[in-house]
Amino acid sequence: MKIVTRDLFGKDFKWGVSTAAFQTEGSAATDGKGPSIWDVFTQQKGRIKGDQHAQVACDFYRRYEQDIALIKDLHIPNFRFSIAWPRLLPQGDRTVVNQKGLDFYDRVIDSCLAQGIEPWVTLYHWDLPHALELKGGWSNRDIVAWFCNYAELCAQRYGDRVKHWMVLNEPMVFTGAGYFLGLHAPGHTALKKFLPAAHHAVLAMAEGGRLLKGLLPTAEIGTTFSCTHVEPASSKNRDIRAAQRADVLFNRLFVEPTLGMGYPVEDLSVLKGIYKYVLPGDEERMRFDFDFIGLQNYTRELVKYALFTPYLHAALVPAEKRNVPLTTMKWEVYPPSIYHIIKRFDSYAGVKKIYITENGAAFPDTVQDGKVNDSQRLHYLQEHIAQVLRAKNDGHKVHGYFVWTLTDNFEWAEGYYPRFGIVYNDFDSQERIVKSSGHWYAHFLNKSLPLHGCP
Ligand code: BGC
Repeated sequence: MKIVTRDLFGKDFKWGVSTAAFQTEGSAATDGKGPSIWDVFTQQKGRIKGDQHAQVACDFYRRYEQDIALIKDLHIPNFRFSIAWPRLLPQGDRTVVNQKGLDFYDRVIDSCLAQGIEPWVTLYHWDLPHALELKGGWSNRDIVAWFCNYAELCAQRYGDRVKHWMVLNEPMVFTGAGYFLGLHAPGHTALKKFLPAAHHAVLAMAEGGRLLKGLLPTAEIGTTFSCTHVEPASSKNRDIRAAQRADVLFNRLFVEPTLGMGYPVEDLSVLKGIYKYVLPGDEERMRFDFDFIGLQNYTRELVKYALFTPYLHAALVPAEKRNVPLTTMKWEVYPPSIYHIIKRFDSYAGVKKIYITENGAAFPDTVQDGKVNDSQRLHYLQEHIAQVLRAKNDGHKVHGYFVWTLTDNFEWAEGYYPRFGIVYNDFDSQERIVKSSGHWYAHFLNKSLPLHGCP
């Protein structure tokens, strides 16, 4: 077994940690912030486990300085966070620009820079201003212009200090779970909402990227995709074809039009309906030559044919039924997934550079004698990082790795139960306790502590 150290990744490899505004900031209605679709969604009974909300979350809005100091203590050189659109533009458009919201991200960015930490900004991590949802949200084509106005404001305000930008976080998840499955805000469950939302997200992603690049030509402009290694449950033809259809949604729908390949409709015919929303000139507008793509991987999925699943005729074989190691989310722990994903996305012509912008796991952590010994997470991270090195050594263009996430936070519809942090958060006292995985990551980054388990 080889020993893996940070040095093996080279000195230019970017190591970091990722967070998102809605999951951490709290102060939901403070200093002029407008409501987001998630503020509204969390108030609706039965949407979130235990009807939990994120009005306080990790209180990052007030504790950002301590949390950034913690990132510094952990020797993590890059911090990815998102800007809450309704904190800057409470109405979504530029009729009201909230000065205090603008000032907040100035302070976050300045505090990073003062600590020697590079800020990486995501423009959209799912917290759409509710005012825009009232006009149709992502299913209204005007969102492309609304989003570009917001992106322009961010670039003008923060572009002097922020050199790494990500336009969207996981468009498949916020359109799929938000507009088709109804599991995420705004809670819609219709194909006629999902298809236009998906197309407008593709357009906004490319237009947003173009706008940022135009205003900030020396900055690195990227966007992030959720991705999962998909395998057929058996060698039967119908399972293989089911896995191919599911793969369109898990991995292809958003990256391919961005690369100029159009929508992958030939492998999932229900998607043909998207062309109803594609206007002349859109095919070209959908393309943008991103400096990098961010890949976010947590697990793999096994897929079988399912007659009764509408449109897709495919179903996941739950990891729980497969006798495999599981996380709190009931996701399989399967480190080679991240290797396959890097390899797969790197094979697209036009992908220039890959960063892993999220990878991590929730496990049931407990505090004992003031310590959190999260050995499962520690091993999860070690094994996934080893797979990233394997991909890099195979010559794939992977140039960074960001752990999801810093502190335990609000895990969307699952509430606070799944703990993903390398830092434990006591949500009553807001006390932070660095978990064993956090201590390990700090040593790995600082002293190049060996990482065992390389294949
Ligand atoms: C999202 C995060 C989320 C994480 C774990 C990603 O899909 O970007 O916001 O907390 O996965 O579920």
